[in-house]
Amino acid sequence: VAQEKINTDIVTLTRFLTEEQSKHKEATGDFTLLCHALQFSFKSIAYYIRRASLINLSGLAGSSNSTGDDQKKLDVIGNDIFVAAMRTSGKCRLLVSEEEERCLVFDENPKARYAVVCDPIDGSSNLDAGVSVGTIFGIFRLAEGSQGKQEELLLPGSELVASGFTMYGASAQLVITMKGGSVNGFTMDNALGEFILTHHDMKMPKSRAIYSVNEGNSLYWEEEVKEYFNSLKYPIEKSGKPYSARYIGSMVADAYRTLLYGGIFAYPADKKSPKGKLRILYECAPMAMVFENAGGQAVNSRMERMLTVVPEHIHDRSGIFMGSYDEVQKVIDTQLIVN
Ligand code: AHG
Ligand code: MN
Ligand code: MN
Ligand code: MN
Repeated sequence: VAQEKINTDIVTLTRFLTEEQSKHKEATGDFTLLCHALQFSFKSIAYYIRRASLINLSGLAGSSNSTGDDQKKLDVIGNDIFVAAMRTSGKCRLLVSEEEERCLVFDENPKARYAVVCDPIDGSSNLDAGVSVGTIFGIFRLAEGSQGKQEELLLPGSELVASGFTMYGASAQLVITMKGGSVNGFTMDNALGEFILTHHDMKMPKSRAIYSVNEGNSLYWEEEVKEYFNSLKYPIEKSGKPYSARYIGSMVADAYRTLLYGGIFAYPADKKSPKGKLRILYECAPMAMVFENAGGQAVNSRMERMLTVVPEHIHDRSGIFMGSYDEVQKVIDTQLIVN
């Protein structure tokens, strides 16, 4: 009987980070320890999300955050878990979170050289429906002589040293990329309690006839945006097949599918949300870095490369088009120049 091939050379996230660190001789290990704290927060959030309906953690917290979102109980819990993990890592100095009005400054870590931006629970409107949600994160290295001021984080995504997300779906999927590096995907093995490398060096298909946008906003779209999406739905060339529509409503889930299958994801700026809905620091920029490192593109509603966009304040928003290289190029070529 053929014995099932057992993989005895398992690459855990811990091992992957150790191997990454060994590539940088000047590394102090601080980044690695910060990522271990990040990893713990994902495991912890996954645990509570999967038990939410059993322990009365679903539904609204009865509060709203500074970007105007009604907070779910899990938004608050996910934020508390993340803040505690970053604070106690000893390696994080500043933390911007969707659920914190101001940037948190950890004075207990005065020598820490990293700043973290995060969306603790992305797609939280989907939580009570059991639809996949996620956590999005980005890591900046603070300049020498940092004063620990939140203005220091009004940076373009090109300054990120790492970014990624964890999607809490059928299994917990962690995607992480370093500046100028590849994109690697890890799947949580609940039996081991470890993230295992399952998607090495992820590369997005160059094109794919899938579009992902909330059509319910069509009334508010600029003319050029309407024309672009109509060109996908009603192809001019006779032979052209219409694109397939896929929209989950959790950016992390729509992003993960787009990374794997290809296509275009968009949340355009529109008349209702002139600066767009998605937040630059902890949604658009981290995702743009992952997408570019996977061979795709990400631009704002003025067709500017998303990673060059500088937020005016820590919760600043932007329109975004991101996905397969050729699909975003098609948007750029139709020159969607709005506001
Ligand atoms: P969050 O739950 O972190 O506030 O983010 C929600 C975002 C993003 O996940 C998703 O792409 C978008 O909101 C969906 O917005 P619509 O419901 O307006 O389509
Ligand atoms: Mn929210
Ligand atoms: Mn979000
Ligand atoms: Mn959120």
